[in-house]
Amino acid sequence: MVEVRFARLEDEAALRKIDTLTWTADVSPAPTPPGGAPFFGDRSRPADVLVAEIDGVVAGYAVLSQDIPLASHAHVLEVRGLAVDPAYQRHGAGRRLMEASVAEARRRGARKLSLRVLGPNAKARQLYESCGFVVEGILRGEFLLDGQYVDDVLMARNLTTD
Ligand SMILES: CC(C)(COP(=O)(O)OP(=O)(O)OC[C@H]1O[C@@H](n2cnc3c(N)ncnc32)[C@H](O)[C@@H]1OP(=O)(O)O)[C@@H](O)C(=O)NCCC(=O)NCCS
Repeated sequence: MVEVRFARLEDEAALRKIDTLTWTADVSPAPTPPGGAPFFGDRSRPADVLVAEIDGVVAGYAVLSQDIPLASHAHVLEVRGLAVDPAYQRHGAGRRLMEASVAEARRRGARKLSLRVLGPNAKARQLYESCGFVVEGILRGEFLLDGQYVDDVLMARNLTTD
């Protein structure tokens, strides 16, 4: 039922809508993007965005990037964004997007896939752990969000083992 494919430029409006629906202080330390802010850009090219469709509807996305653009860091890719439309959550799209991200990172020759997740984001942390990601570090009190100091958790998956 869940199909994962690369994004196309015509997904722009659907992806922006998913951001609007899911962007809260629990999931992102950055302010909500202003209305009309483009989804695609230099750091989110369609070729780096995986889209999950459920029954033909764009239900979620994951963005892959090389966060530090150095040759010495080329073996590490990052999942820089993951979101599923609340209307389609708990249907397996998040897991399929993470599995597809792992497969695509391997296809690109990466040895490690990393990500950051806010400490209180239990849903996402559980998903990442069940996909083989482990905590590599915790930046304590890294963000002040809604009056609370919140940890930023660094997680990664080794791609050289199963
Ligand atoms: C995190 C998120 C992407 C999960 O997407 P999803 O499509 O609902 O996930 P799935 O249906 O594939 O579920 C996969 C696993 O995630 C975890 N999970 C998802 N929703 C959960 C919930 N409400 N409570 C507890 N665990 C949950 C579970 O481990 C689940 O596995 P299970 O179904 O075998 O128990 C989605 O909740 C989301 O978009 N949240 C807002 C944005 C966000 O937090 N992004 C991550 C930023 S780091």
